[in-house]
Amino acid sequence: MSSVDLKIVLVVLVTLAAYTVVASVIPQVESEVPMDIAFGAEVTPEELVEAGESIYRGAGGCVACHSESPGARGPNLLTDYRGEGLIGERCADRVPGLDCKEYLYQALVRPNDHIVDDYPPIMPPSDRALSQPQIWAMVAFLQAAGGEVTVTAADIPDEPGAATAPAPPPAPEPGAAQLADAPDVFRAQCVMCHQVGGEGGPIGPPMDGIGARLSEAELRLAILDPEAVIAEGYEDMAGIMPPNYGEILTPDEIETLVRYLSGLH
Ligand code: HEC
Ligand code: HEC
Repeated sequence: MSSVDLKIVLVVLVTLAAYTVVASVIPQVESEVPMDIAFGAEVTPEELVEAGESIYRGAGGCVACHSESPGARGPNLLTDYRGEGLIGERCADRVPGLDCKEYLYQALVRPNDHIVDDYPPIMPPSDRALSQPQIWAMVAFLQAAGGEVTVTAADIPDEPGAATAPAPPPAPEPGAAQLADAPDVFRAQCVMCHQVGGEGGPIGPPMDGIGARLSEAELRLAILDPEAVIAEGYEDMAGIMPPNYGEILTPDEIETLVRYLSGLH
């Protein structure tokens, strides 16, 4: 398949998935997931797995692509994938020289280094939105799916983000943008890919502060013709945003979105 065909297929899948995803992602994202966590030296595998699971199912946004449904955009992790087993079983056999733990960490922070078979390189690096302790907890959770947890406190840098990753985004200031204040059309069409106030999907750039970066005309263009301007750092994701909002939204809805986004400073 050409990459254009692939993109069209993706957009269709995404649009179809959007309705189910929105129903399932929003309540999960709003569930009690601490935006940052820290572990002491005595942390047990069980504690790591439990924390990892809540991030995986919540703020991590992983289930948006790794659901077990047939249209899922990423490979099954918690169930068998092509006879290779669950992720905790197959992780050690993925890349020669990398053990399970090393592979999973890389798969999360540098997802495009080792692409699984025929999948497109659309997985966002986890350290864009998550801290190092959160990422290591998720590695433990994925190991536990069919394998043995070998993550320990020694793997986790003292300072979140101290190792290879940039620091996680600071906690929202009081009075900062909240998803709860977004118009319905944003919550229905956009939140599965764009975060506001730390809530929502991680596929496109977060919308916090977008009003300070883009004018109303640029916002309108970005919504109506996403390929016209590709957001910096999201070149790999070009073509993922649905190109047909001009057809599926009313002019009023588009203007509501433009006004809402231009007010996010
Ligand atoms: C936008 C969709 C998307 C999101 C969101 C996403 N992934 Fe992925 N993921 C993929 C795709 C596609 C692949 C296969 C291509 C590749 O290897 O990058 C993949 C591959 C993986 C793999 C390697 C699987 C294997 O069989 O070796 C792991 C592990 C993984 N993802 C975990 C996660 C976790 C944990 C999260 C949440 C922090 C996440 N993904 C979020 C799309 C996504
Ligand atoms: C399937 C995922 C997806 C959906 C749904 C989606 N977007 Fe996007 N969006 C992206 C991606 C990926 C990018 C970055 C690549 C690009 O610029 O095309 C992006 C870029 C943008 C940008 C430009 C950001 C910048 O920093 O330049 C704006 C504005 C935007 N989207 C608004 C929206 C609005 C409003 C909606 C809902 C009507 C929406 N998006 C729905 C994935 C999505």
